[in-house]
Amino acid sequence: MPTLPPALAAALAGVRSVAVITGAGVSKAAGLPTYRGEGGVYEDPREGDRTIEDLTGATFRREPDRTWDRILRLARGAAAARPGPVHHLLAAAARRMPGLFLLTQNVDGLHGRAGSPDVVEIHGNVLRIRCLRCGHGAPLPAQALAVGASRPSCPACGGPVRPDVVLFEEPLPREPLLRLQAALVEQSPDLVLLLGTSALFPYIVAPARHATLRGKASVEVNPDPTPATPAVRHALRGTAEAWLPVLLEAVPALQGLRA
Ligand code: OAD
Repeated sequence: MPTLPPALAAALAGVRSVAVITGAGVSKAAGLPTYRGEGGVYEDPREGDRTIEDLTGATFRREPDRTWDRILRLARGAAAARPGPVHHLLAAAARRMPGLFLLTQNVDGLHGRAGSPDVVEIHGNVLRIRCLRCGHGAPLPAQALAVGASRPSCPACGGPVRPDVVLFEEPLPREPLLRLQAALVEQSPDLVLLLGTSALFPYIVAPARHATLRGKASVEVNPDPTPATPAVRHALRGTAEAWLPVLLEAVPALQGLRA
């Protein structure tokens, strides 16, 4: 078990409210690839740059089958995966601390499947669809996951649907951004924890910087430095699986959790 720096252990002893932001690194232990880095979805040498191009809003409008093909590959992986240790531990933490705020950039739905209530999925969920005609949202039908299956349609009106995810070049949905703002800026939790994200987006780094500037605890857990590293008070190198139990155990209200 890794050991916390003494200054961080002291800070965690006074923590009563927690916000967690996760990225693909927390699903790695569940067997899903990250996006970037070795073995990443965007770094498959057989695909070159096509993956990102497949996942843009412009490609979806022009060639929806191309985007669907890519999304369904991600969806098959997500559907086959089981939540990992970090998902389970965060769900246990939320049961103990009902106000715990959890925002994920992951589109695999694994936090919800582990039992985390009320997860803010800021980039959406590949296992959900949204109707382009009537706006109805629904789970992706299981039969759509079969290789060669035809594109799903809206269960309410039969209209064309899109994956309920944010594609490249598309704006973020308003509601999760407002919830991020309310939870992190207005409520200002005692601890902001970034877990397993390359933190490439300003809206992911900003909450950590905000906590740091307010004198709160801000922690990054990642094997490598990221753009968030200069913004956090404590950067812990290593995996989320190794560090999260140690971090939560140091918060009095979260001691003795079982994943
Ligand atoms: P990335 O693939 O960009 O980054 C994953 C991060 O996890 C890297 O910084 C790794 O060093 C780190 N990592 C790997 N294994 C880890 C472990 N066991 N514990 C902790 N950290 C680990 O994934 P995200 O940051 O989530 O957008 O990517 C952000 C967004 O970019 C995704 O949501 C996706 C992508 O485009 C959409 O789907 C809209």
